[in-house]
Amino acid sequence: MAAESTTTLQTEIKALARKRNALILAHNYQPPAIQDLADLCGDSLELSRKAAQTDADIIVFCGVHFMAETASILCPEKTVLLPRDDAGCLMADMITAEALQARIDNLPPMPVVTYVNSTADVKALSTICCTSANAVEVVNSLAADELLMTPDRNLAMYAASRTGKKIHIWEGYCPTHEWLTADDVHQARAAHPDAVFLAHPECRPEVLALADVIASTSGMLRHVTAAKETAFIVGTEKGLLHPMQKANPDKRFYPAADKMICANMKKIQLEDVRRCLETMTGEVRVPEAIRLPALQAVRAMVELNL
Ligand code: 13P
Ligand code: SF4
Repeated sequence: MAAESTTTLQTEIKALARKRNALILAHNYQPPAIQDLADLCGDSLELSRKAAQTDADIIVFCGVHFMAETASILCPEKTVLLPRDDAGCLMADMITAEALQARIDNLPPMPVVTYVNSTADVKALSTICCTSANAVEVVNSLAADELLMTPDRNLAMYAASRTGKKIHIWEGYCPTHEWLTADDVHQARAAHPDAVFLAHPECRPEVLALADVIASTSGMLRHVTAAKETAFIVGTEKGLLHPMQKANPDKRFYPAADKMICANMKKIQLEDVRRCLETMTGEVRVPEAIRLPALQAVRAMVELNL
């Protein structure tokens, strides 16, 4: 798309959003034109907080399905629109409520910590949610020393290593982060020997062991912006390079591996956002019987105020 038509479309969508009193939220992995359009870009925690606080009538969630669901869990009185109904999350699909219930039934009683990258009915069976930004603190906030953590095994192993607690893991993972190997990191370091290596906690343990910094997407963005260093190897989905470069035009950013792309995060285009605002389609709503138990798990996390 030519630069001019991107701008025209963005202006048109902003006018439409104003007319409808809609807030446009975008995750840090979204395509650049969507990030540039949004009222707020952020990581999962920041976007949930913003959704919980807004006085807009409509939330257009440019991200994946579980993010729109989380907004709907927190704000049932608002209309939450996901511009592409096929934007799912492969990790969230690695656990079902039935399978989780069976696992809970086979363990002694213990808290269940569930990563927000999960469906509402999985959250509904959980004690508390966490995001990549607060997983360690959420685990530490629990009185119990033994717990089950779902669905991301890498995040669970990371939290176990940082808290010393006994964590039963679920064998889920994010393919985009799982693809990054220690060899890829060694190659990237050899190509850019002066660069700081940042890794997302969804990466494998052997990759995290090589990291200079481990953080959520917005945590990485804050880190590179504040850092005195000027070169960074970014161990997460490549979409994050856009806000990093935009905020730090004089610094250099390299993807840890070119393959780190989440196809679902790239589905939403400007035309999809315009269509959903024009036609009010793509609503995501969680039924009350699921929303209320899911809300207690999401609220338990949000109220920790981490
Ligand atoms: P955060 O932006 O919360 O770090 O999440 C990363 C992610 O994989 C979202 O799908
Ligand atoms: Fe899910 Fe991974 Fe894509 Fe995030 S990057 S939406 S965790 S598959």
